[in-house]
Amino acid sequence: MDRSSIAIVGVGAMGGALLSGLLEAGWTPSDLTLIEAYEPRATELREATGCRTEGLPSDGIDGQDIVVLAVKPQDIHVALGQLAEVLTVDQLLVALVAGVPLSVYERALGEVPVIRTMPNTPALVGEGITACAPGTHAGADHMAKARTVLSAVGLVEEVEEALLDAVTAVSGSGPAYAYLLAEAMVAEGVRQGLDPETALRLAARTIKGAGTMMESSDDNPSVLRKRVASPGGTTAEALAVMNQGGFVEVVRDAVAAATERSVELGEIAAG
Ligand SMILES: NC(=O)c1ccc[n+]([C@@H]2O[C@H](COP(=O)([O-])OP(=O)(O)OC[C@H]3O[C@@H](n4cnc5c(N)ncnc54)[C@H](OP(=O)(O)O)[C@@H]3O)[C@@H](O)[C@H]2O)c1
Repeated sequence: MDRSSIAIVGVGAMGGALLSGLLEAGWTPSDLTLIEAYEPRATELREATGCRTEGLPSDGIDGQDIVVLAVKPQDIHVALGQLAEVLTVDQLLVALVAGVPLSVYERALGEVPVIRTMPNTPALVGEGITACAPGTHAGADHMAKARTVLSAVGLVEEVEEALLDAVTAVSGSGPAYAYLLAEAMVAEGVRQGLDPETALRLAARTIKGAGTMMESSDDNPSVLRKRVASPGGTTAEALAVMNQGGFVEVVRDAVAAATERSVELGEIAAG
């Protein structure tokens, strides 16, 4: 495995998940530098992981192969200002910042190769999926490096930047759709007599198991669905109620609305 040296700028939920994934995947603390300005948190990170920490990108990213940027969108301009002073064209920036277009990075960083990504929160348990879009100066070798790094927290897909809005609507926001489905399943299960903990275990493992079936089967979800729903049975009854309630249309509208909102937010971020 190519174990590039990596600096992580922004070690919060997403940066922290990647850090844990990288250590589990075989990166050693000496491969990783963490940029964390708040000293108590830096000390905590150093003690927990053995990684080097620095307060500012100017002190920590010199000579690193890859710089992962995982700050909140509202902090992007400060972070880019700091990175612009030190990043070179021999390094690669992998940005995990939702909604910020490649043009913003390229305006700030010139010819530094940039890969924009859209991860999702199951990355926190190593079960994420991250879509990556390469910038103008990022080639196949850069994409291969990004893929190796992001694989530490789940699957990786390459898409054109224009498709990241659709990715955001499907997999970025998608965990919330699954949670809403689970909430409704659990609520009615409890009303039908299950205790809440059992109902939650049943719903969570059912959604997880259905996901695993979709990933491992050659059949598409519609075939898998029909296989569960024997005529006149309980599943067919439930699916009929879902169809009458417009379940499919509601989900399609929801994904369309999320895509549209992602486009709007991207336009705001692009200035
Ligand atoms: N979590 C998700 O569900 C999710 C999903 C998809 C994409 N993302 C993207 O991932 C990015 C990070 O999100 P998150 O949830 O991990 O946020 P988070 O927990 O707030 O982490 C961001 C971290 O960046 C630090 N930071 C801010 N400016 C910095 C700078 N100039 N140098 C070094 N560190 C800096 C923050 O420190 P302070 O707290 O001290 O400011 C914080 O520790 C976001 O852009 C988000 O769009 C997140």
